[in-house]
Amino acid sequence: MLLEIRNLTKVFPLGESIFGGGAKGVLRAVDDVSLGIQAGETLGLVGESGSGKSTLGRLILRLIEPTSGSIRYQGRDLLTASHAEMRGFRRDMQIIFQDPFGSLDPRMRVEDVIAEPLVIHERMSPATRRGRVAELLRAVGLGESAMRRFPHEFSGGQRQRIGIARALALRPKFIVADEPVSALDVGVGSQIVNLMAQLQREFGLTYLFISHSMPVVRYLATRIAVMYRGKIVEIGPAEQITERPAHSYTRSLLEATPEMVISGA
Ligand SMILES: Nc1ncnc2c1ncn2[C@@H]1O[C@H](COP(=O)(O)OP(=O)(O)O)[C@@H](O)[C@H]1O
Ligand SMILES: [Mg+2]
Repeated sequence: MLLEIRNLTKVFPLGESIFGGGAKGVLRAVDDVSLGIQAGETLGLVGESGSGKSTLGRLILRLIEPTSGSIRYQGRDLLTASHAEMRGFRRDMQIIFQDPFGSLDPRMRVEDVIAEPLVIHERMSPATRRGRVAELLRAVGLGESAMRRFPHEFSGGQRQRIGIARALALRPKFIVADEPVSALDVGVGSQIVNLMAQLQREFGLTYLFISHSMPVVRYLATRIAVMYRGKIVEIGPAEQITERPAHSYTRSLLEATPEMVISGA
């Protein structure tokens, strides 16, 4: 297993009651989740909005700290890793967001957006770095001319390609893709999914692919985990989950989502 999580739990305190009672409770956003992800596979994580998918993805990347449980990456315990070790893990594990530019400085040129992880983590000459950015842009199907332009000059699909190029800059092994096509039209989304499949083959990537849509997950995933109210209610090979779902919640997800035909690349 590349990644193994055991009994992972994240509890958020609930705010005070709006009725003024001060009755507080906790929300178990991720509730005792255990699963493994094998090198080279795509584990699809599907569930309705609010089921805890993003929280699980962020826990794995240690963007937030778990309440309890363990995460092992290549056999090493991530939660007790030293600072130096963690630095290595942070290079290896990257995230692709639904909207990669929601939180970025709109004044940054695409070249700087993609080069930023290289500036932080790697020592290389500006010329070498520039060459690497050009190479990354080619890998995601964009021309070198994109470098000098600004994110807002691009369409949603192109922006997602830029986000993917940035995520690949440090040659990661493992990528959490959190609803990467949910903000895109179906046709554009299918191009991005095809690109991700191609990049996976090219760079030997392992994906945790998060989506609320079963057809999207089904296309890319080798295995699927179904999440409901913080728990994994069902996990198994993609074909088994979609053809012979064991859990009623999985069946309702399959019924809720119309077929989406994605042409292969
Ligand atoms: N930082 C936070 N503080 C409090 N509650 C949170 C926080 N982040 C997420 N939640 C809650 O945890 C639950 C799961 O959220 P999330 O992981 O974003 O679900 P999903 O990605 O499946 O839509 C939701 O009820 C959400 O409101
Ligand atoms: Mg989410």
